[in-house]
Amino acid sequence: MDHFNYVDGWLHAEEVSLSRIAAEVGTPVYVYSTATLTRHFRLFQQALNWTDHLVCFAVKANSNIAVLKLLGDLGAGMDIVSAGEYARARAAGVPGERIVFSGVGKTETEMRMALEGGIRQFNVESEPELEVLSRVAVSMGVEVPIAVRVNPDVDARTHEKIATGKSENKFGIPIARAREVYANAARLPGIKVVGLDMHIGSQLTDLEPYRQAYAKMADLTRALRADGHQITRLDMGGGLGIPYRRDNNAPPLPIEYGQVIRDAVGDLGCEIEIEPGRNIAGNAGILLSSVIYLKEGEGRDFLILDAAMNDLIRPAMYSAHHDIVPVREAAPGTDVAPYDVVGPVCETGDTFQKGTQLPTLAPADLVALRSAGAYGAVMASEYNSRPLVPEVLVNGDQFAVIRARPTLEEMLGRDTIPEWL
Ligand code: LLP
Repeated sequence: MDHFNYVDGWLHAEEVSLSRIAAEVGTPVYVYSTATLTRHFRLFQQALNWTDHLVCFAVKANSNIAVLKLLGDLGAGMDIVSAGEYARARAAGVPGERIVFSGVGKTETEMRMALEGGIRQFNVESEPELEVLSRVAVSMGVEVPIAVRVNPDVDARTHEKIATGKSENKFGIPIARAREVYANAARLPGIKVVGLDMHIGSQLTDLEPYRQAYAKMADLTRALRADGHQITRLDMGGGLGIPYRRDNNAPPLPIEYGQVIRDAVGDLGCEIEIEPGRNIAGNAGILLSSVIYLKEGEGRDFLILDAAMNDLIRPAMYSAHHDIVPVREAAPGTDVAPYDVVGPVCETGDTFQKGTQLPTLAPADLVALRSAGAYGAVMASEYNSRPLVPEVLVNGDQFAVIRARPTLEEMLGRDTIPEWL
């Protein structure tokens, strides 16, 4: 459920008409709903209310500081993967003890920054990383709490570019080597083993891969305890999928996911951490865009929008589907026609959808690309020298620009011409 609905014939974000936002901020623009973000975060809290837990929002899904503050104020922890994400979480007021550091290629500088600023735990993904972390911790005179990310070799049954839990993927250490790596970790100075971590992929629409991975996690936890390690935290990763099509079967709910966790590891007495990103932010955002032209092609009509692949890359990158709806509600019985909905960027891949049934639209009419709150703005670029798309946060009947549209001067101002040129 989200909070983007038609009111008096116009699509609203909560109580704010999207046409008002378009008039005041311009398009394209991302629009997020506070009520939806709050609701989705709380669903995960409820799903784990049977035990001690921390819901760490995966910052990579939506890293706007206002969004992070909203979630942080509700009690969220943060799952971060870079110095930039760490800085964003801290700028949003999230304390270090609620920040988990994931990622396959943490640099020494990033480790130092997190250790100086405060960190809950590092999710270590390789033995070389473990050694560097030990050295950095010793040089700073601190002890670092760690979990090792283990690759369970489970098929997440999702798009190949976002599956992470098979042995051929770069993530984590092979499960067969886990006990040996934990034994090494326990011997390293500055390292304190506290937990075990897994993340098998993103946009999972089936609970079975989780069952398989978490069963392996439970077995491994028992084995590690038998080896003498104190495993008190289990980080179950993120990845629960969202419905991208309104008319489709919805993926499992957070409450069902929470039950899978409970069934698998509930008897181990561990604190549970999860790292959902898409499920919290995805359906809490839309990309609002205007029609620039309608163009008759050979046997097809193109709807040319002012949003493009640089603003929302998911269709071009993963052949992802985002529902496209007119902001002015079509009256019942209105004729619809198929359009290829495209952006102005000079690539054929700049196509949001082909053959979408839409009512007749005219230049300046508004459309919304739904389910764009996660992996939308964060993956935007300035390709074709299009300034980064702005972001707006709605709360009830108010809204605020939480990232302004850069001016051309700001965009150009980052380049410099060397004096010898
Ligand atoms: N934890 C770790 C270690 C991750 O790598 C990820 C996502 C998450 C948590 C959050 O997963 P989520 O709950 O959002 O599925 N750009 C792609 C998605 C990439 C996901 C990368 N890792 C997309 O647009 O579909």
